[in-house]
Amino acid sequence: MTHQSPRRILVTSALPYANGPLHLGHIIETIQTDIWVRAQKMFGNDCRYLCADDTHGTPIMLKAQQMGISPEALIAEVSRSHQADFADFMIGFDIFHSTHSEENRRMASEVFLKLDARGLISRKTIKQAYDPEKEMFLPDRFIKGECPKCGALDQYGDNCEKCGATYSPTELKNPRSVLSGATPVERDSEHFFFDLPQMESQLKQWLSEDRVQPAIRAKLQEWFDSGLQAWDISRDAPYFGFEIPGAPGKFFYVWLDAPIGYMGAFLKLAESTNLNFADYWGEHATSELYHFIGKDIAYFHTLFWPAMLIGAGMRTPTAVFTHGFLTLNGEKMSKSRGTFIQARTYLNHLDPQALRYYFAAKLSASIDDIDLSLDDFRARVNSDLVGKVINIASRCAGFINKQFNHQLSAELNAPHLNAQLIAAAESIQNRYERRETGQAMREIMALADLVNQYIDEKKPWTMAKTPETLPGVQGVCTDGLNAFRILMTYLTPVLPKMSLQAAQFLNLPALRWQDIATPLVAHTIHAFEPLMTRIEPAAIDALLAATQQEAQALMQATPTNTEIEPKKVTIDPIAPEIDLNAFTAVDLRIALIVQAEHVEGAAKLLKLTLDIGEEKPRQVFAGIKSAYDPATLIGRHTVMVANLKPRQMKFGLSEGMVLAASQGDSGIFILSPDAGATAGMRVK
Ligand code: MSP
Ligand code: ZN
Repeated sequence: MTHQSPRRILVTSALPYANGPLHLGHIIETIQTDIWVRAQKMFGNDCRYLCADDTHGTPIMLKAQQMGISPEALIAEVSRSHQADFADFMIGFDIFHSTHSEENRRMASEVFLKLDARGLISRKTIKQAYDPEKEMFLPDRFIKGECPKCGALDQYGDNCEKCGATYSPTELKNPRSVLSGATPVERDSEHFFFDLPQMESQLKQWLSEDRVQPAIRAKLQEWFDSGLQAWDISRDAPYFGFEIPGAPGKFFYVWLDAPIGYMGAFLKLAESTNLNFADYWGEHATSELYHFIGKDIAYFHTLFWPAMLIGAGMRTPTAVFTHGFLTLNGEKMSKSRGTFIQARTYLNHLDPQALRYYFAAKLSASIDDIDLSLDDFRARVNSDLVGKVINIASRCAGFINKQFNHQLSAELNAPHLNAQLIAAAESIQNRYERRETGQAMREIMALADLVNQYIDEKKPWTMAKTPETLPGVQGVCTDGLNAFRILMTYLTPVLPKMSLQAAQFLNLPALRWQDIATPLVAHTIHAFEPLMTRIEPAAIDALLAATQQEAQALMQATPTNTEIEPKKVTIDPIAPEIDLNAFTAVDLRIALIVQAEHVEGAAKLLKLTLDIGEEKPRQVFAGIKSAYDPATLIGRHTVMVANLKPRQMKFGLSEGMVLAASQGDSGIFILSPDAGATAGMRVK
């Protein structure tokens, strides 16, 4: 271990909207961040974790109106619920603040005034849709009408969910306000714009310094290629936000003061700690700054935000760490389908540390989506945490406590095993640092396997039966408990509470990274209490049932407009380069669709029966229901992956996969061979 002076690090998670309860999509992000922060703290760095609620904007204003309360009352209530959920998931913020705070108002004004003074703010009168009944300007998502391209009914003002066309709300046919049903009229209004194009070369310079993951870099290149545009940062009253200095009736758009909220939270933290603003945010700050975000908000964090910071003469983020989206059992979570699991609902039925471990095991530095497969979750937690790690302690503790009066032996019996465990510290530290927590968990579990093998070989339960071999049991169990101590130290960023309980059991104040190499010998331990119990299928069933019920209640209680949030951008991960062997390992075949049918209860899937020239046709569930009427598929040829490991789905076994093209929400297109290809032919 090195003894350099500690790094000073600020870390943020994206600020959740204060318009509703947290769901597991929010939780995966804060768990990823929290693990990273706890690891940094363990490594001896001076690391602070900032977050806040994102409280401004039209949806929050309207939701408060609907509820008949003030927006301040709404965000206070939501803040309480968010903080309670985060606390129960053991998210260790150094500060959780609000964007509706004096600190943030001050910072937002300051940043804006600096940008304005540097000629980066322009004013322009634009035409915008206005709701004459509700007497307010309408964001694009608050206007619906018929798609100008395909005529689909009931489409939003910015893009068509049927044909994927994008357009401006003025192009919609028969437009109406989602709020009042009135036909919108056009009205002039002066808006403030941030001159993003002026910042292009500085942004490119910042990005050239390895600030984002490759997939995000590729997306940014596309954005640069299609040309940067001035960014509209103002909204007209009525709006819940901060009024722009010197511009009565004009407010900062929520996405202007949201990232500045990171600084607002910092100022609040600085009140009670002696942190200096310039050290952390000044142009020449030497501390590190990292933002953890989901891929839908990369645009805001890798273009607008650094551009604002550069423009205002402040430091830029050291890096922006983007993660993918959480899916549930392979499908996008959806409020209407009742697959959006709320944080509190999870907590009512299951152990937060189980989910922390599962997410840790699935997370990496990539932006690929992460699937919460509930069967896999249960199997993984039961086998790894209960079956491997905790098992070591429960196998050894009883002997030490009952036969050896709570005393560990004076030396280790198997120093080579201990050395092997210690040797992994650096690699595990690196994996935490690089956000490869999945790899870290696999490395830790491989070590746990070694320890269990060692205990299996020694068989302390047999040794304890004969007086001659009984004394040797103390050494073997001391080995086991030392291994347990090291493994739990490695797992501490993921399982903070279990780590404390393990420390109590081992009669230590805490499990610390710097103690890994110091064996625990000639030491008294306490009684062992089970640290976690197996997850039973019934708990998962209860969670799903509760989630379904909430979804039904929600659909009845709230009109859809409260769900509307600012438009976001989807980014598809770029696939890594592979060699020819990897490709030829995929057995692609021409398949004849002999049957295609709806699946009861499946929102996205069709069940296909595919003939690929084998004796028995294959059954495949394909997520193409939104794009195809099953009757039209029967008799068509397509391409399937024939050697995909069969997957047990809720609706049955899926024995392969059909190939289809898609991007974002622009539709799904299954592939067809040219005429003449027949079932079973290989595709090479
Ligand atoms: N308020 C903005 C962020 C402002 S940051 C200055 C926002 N809020 S949000 O509540 O919609 O999302 C908060 C974070 O949760 C974002 O990083 C978002 O990507 C993440 N997630 C929301 N749903 C998610 C999943 N289903 N899966 C993973 N992360 C998701 O955006
Ligand atoms: Zn359309």
